[in-house]
Amino acid sequence: MKQIEITTSVTIFENVEELPNDVKELMNKAVEARKNAYAPYSDFEVGAALLLENGEVITGNNQENAAYPSGMCAERVAVWKASSEFPNQKILKIVLTATSRKTKNTTPVAPCGGCRQTLLEYEQKQDAPMEVYFMGAEGEIYKTNSLTDLVPIAFGKSFL
Ligand code: THU
Repeated sequence: MKQIEITTSVTIFENVEELPNDVKELMNKAVEARKNAYAPYSDFEVGAALLLENGEVITGNNQENAAYPSGMCAERVAVWKASSEFPNQKILKIVLTATSRKTKNTTPVAPCGGCRQTLLEYEQKQDAPMEVYFMGAEGEIYKTNSLTDLVPIAFGKSFL
């Protein structure tokens, strides 16, 4: 038997003002996208903004459904929109913001497991890391340099 240690690196920004300018712009777009979330069942609104290698910014938000599992998260709406419109453009960064309409979230809201797996697929496909930034409604922002920091032991195509 042996034990291994896996290290995950996270950079924490105190607030939006501390972000690099390009990421600040992406966060502003994610906040705008968040306002268009269709979330009548959870009252939880999520916005995403992706920066592609060609400079395009693609946004998304969560889209719920009365048949609950038929809804979709903001990250997947955005990444599938990006991949369907620009299949050969690398995704350099994804920026997320999420908040409940009942309480203003001030701690960073991490992407769910399904979204991590989906984003990881595109990181592996493009063979280049994707930066991930996530925030609540406001306050601190967490940044990882790659999906592998969020999914250190992952399933992927190499198993198939
Ligand atoms: N949601 C996202 O959009 N992204 C996540 O990473 C976690 C959850 C959405 C799905 C649902 O519409 C609402 O937040 C509550 O789970």
